[in-house]
Amino acid sequence: MSNLADFQARIETVLAEHLAKADIPERLRAAMQYSTLGGGKRIRALLVYAAGTATGAAMNRLDAVAAAIECVHAYSLIHDDLPAMDDDDLRRGRPTNHIQFDEATAILAGDALQTLAFEIVAESALNDHQARQVSLLLARSAGATGMVGGQMIDILATEKQLSQPELENMHRCKTGALINAAVIGGALCAETLSDEAHSALGKYAANLGLAFQVVDDILDIESTTEQLGKPNGSDTAAGKVTFPQLLGLAESKQFAQKLYQDAMESLGLIGDNNESPLGVSLLSDIAERVVTRTH
Ligand code: IPE
Ligand code: IPE
Ligand code: MG
Ligand code: MG
Ligand code: MG
Repeated sequence: MSNLADFQARIETVLAEHLAKADIPERLRAAMQYSTLGGGKRIRALLVYAAGTATGAAMNRLDAVAAAIECVHAYSLIHDDLPAMDDDDLRRGRPTNHIQFDEATAILAGDALQTLAFEIVAESALNDHQARQVSLLLARSAGATGMVGGQMIDILATEKQLSQPELENMHRCKTGALINAAVIGGALCAETLSDEAHSALGKYAANLGLAFQVVDDILDIESTTEQLGKPNGSDTAAGKVTFPQLLGLAESKQFAQKLYQDAMESLGLIGDNNESPLGVSLLSDIAERVVTRTH
């Protein structure tokens, strides 16, 4: 495992194994598989593997954390696309879950993926202390103080104006929190994690998480539906508050670039205790991928 493509293939297999579990009603399984397998950039899983490689974590532990976070992410997308939320018909170049199946099935598939994430952590090779730390991190990042809280702020802010600090806070919650959980969750899988590495990785994640959503907002305007695999112009049509709408496109791009540079600088602070240069270089490749992506 030495490059991002290897890890991308690996997470696909790991997720497929978890979704092959016995005793899931077949329609529910099909809906869970539909939104979890065979698509997506896997940025969060890659962050788990890269941060864990940097800190020397065992691969079977990283598999569990990467799979758990991709399950939470897939659930969040299914629910985000529902008619009561963003009401989008296209995701990863295919009909959204509720279009392919139906609304009730989509809601249930999201619910089941969310609980599956915690099942995966609880039954993993993590030791008890790590499993507890990762569960707490994931629960807080995905829940009311993180992603779900951010989605609420997003919905309440529709057709309103936010200040830049308010918008940044919304982005940190709805997208940044899970990205932070991926980086720190991967790092926590190591036997030991130095304070220096923990804090540097936290700064990297904070900058990258915000950059990720700023780029998502830019792509909603600049990219095509074909490239994105999800409808372009969806934010504007829905009256969403976004960075381009607040700052303009040019300034939003400069801001994304600045966040990228800050993320890269944070990697320089990781130190040289036992951290692996391969892991650090994977983290830097991911940051570049996040800001140069076209979908
Ligand atoms: C989309 O996330 C939702 C946001 C947080 C902006 P991704 O762009 O990572 O979605 P996939 O997994 O690659 O489809
Ligand atoms: C969604 O943000 C973030 C989630 C928690 C799913 P968006 O609504 O901007 O994501 P896309 O553009 O639909 O992927
Ligand atoms: Mg949304
Ligand atoms: Mg959306
Ligand atoms: Mg978006």
